Amino acid sequence: MTPQTRVAPEEVRTVTCVGAGVIGGGWVAYFLARGYRVVAWDPAEDAESRLRHLVEAAWPALTDLGLAEGASLDRLSVEQDLAAACAQADFVQESAPEDLELKRKLLADIDAATPEHVVISSSTSGYGMTEMQVRCAHPERTVVGHPFNPPYLIPLVEVVGGEATSAEVVDWTADFFRHAGKSVIRMEREVPGFVANRLQEALWREALHMVEAGEATVEEIDLSITDGPGLRWALQGPMLTFHLAGGQGGMAHMLDHFGPSLLSPWTRLEAPELTPKLRDAVVDGCEREAAGRSIDELVAERDRGVIAILRALGRA
Ligand SMILES: NC(=O)c1ccc[n+]([C@@H]2O[C@H](COP(=O)([O-])OP(=O)(O)OC[C@H]3O[C@@H](n4cnc5c(N)ncnc54)[C@H](O)[C@@H]3O)[C@@H](O)[C@H]2O)c1
Repeated sequence: MTPQTRVAPEEVRTVTCVGAGVIGGGWVAYFLARGYRVVAWDPAEDAESRLRHLVEAAWPALTDLGLAEGASLDRLSVEQDLAAACAQADFVQESAPEDLELKRKLLADIDAATPEHVVISSSTSGYGMTEMQVRCAHPERTVVGHPFNPPYLIPLVEVVGGEATSAEVVDWTADFFRHAGKSVIRMEREVPGFVANRLQEALWREALHMVEAGEATVEEIDLSITDGPGLRWALQGPMLTFHLAGGQGGMAHMLDHFGPSLLSPWTRLEAPELTPKLRDAVVDGCEREAAGRSIDELVAERDRGVIAILRALGRA
């Protein structure tokens, strides 16, 4: 494949979605709302009726958010044949079941049917592209584009290549998703579970431990997030949240003050050693995120956001 012949990320017109369940259908709805022509393929007999139902159910929310010029449900076509669907693509998003053997074979089939210059992305929640791309003749154009349910509303996509993926393809994919309106983390290296699922999993493991040990009920665990840190996380994430918890001293004070308590048995996960290098990396990261905003400005932004969320939920 020569990158020269690949269309620019902003010139993609037709997206092919392979697998049209919860995630694939959500992608279809999203790409249609962003004005793309979408071609879908799914081997299930009832796939087309399920897909059209999902897209129509999502459309009012997408209309409310604002459709791109030319966006229309009429721009969806469902093919009966994988090769016919892939032949039309400027970009392919695969969202078939999470089964390694199935993904390996399917990606090889997509690879064989898709014009050589077209990027093929997988929605996988956990497999690395290195283990999925093994049977592809052109593995350099295969990449993970991991979405969050529902992909038509949650902005984040984690983009990461495998060992055989070219860096240019990872960059292209990140640019494409950004152009399509997504928020993108372009990962430099493969990590099982990517970024967000590792964080979710850490929380979930601890929650399961707490339920098993009789330390908290399921309801208490959910309430502890929805009425506690969850409200802040939507606005500032766990790092910047703690930057503010350190008062005017920010994250540096937070780490120096509470760093030692990382070693107390607050969680079953082992804490990393708080080396000066790790401390500085976290403090510097918070400063970069703050981008010149003072603690007072960040506090005011957070408070406005939390109030807006509470109002939107009817809980203010
Ligand atoms: N559900 C989530 O929250 C979530 C979030 C992010 C990523 N993902 C990932 O998205 C992918 C799809 O998950 P889902 O939740 O939409 O599953 P799903 O079961 O809702 O949908 C899977 C679809 O794939 C179709 N399918 C079956 N065999 C196929 C084949 N050989 N080729 C193409 N399609 C085939 C099925 O008919 C079905 O419509 C998985 O890789 C999953 O890990 C899921």
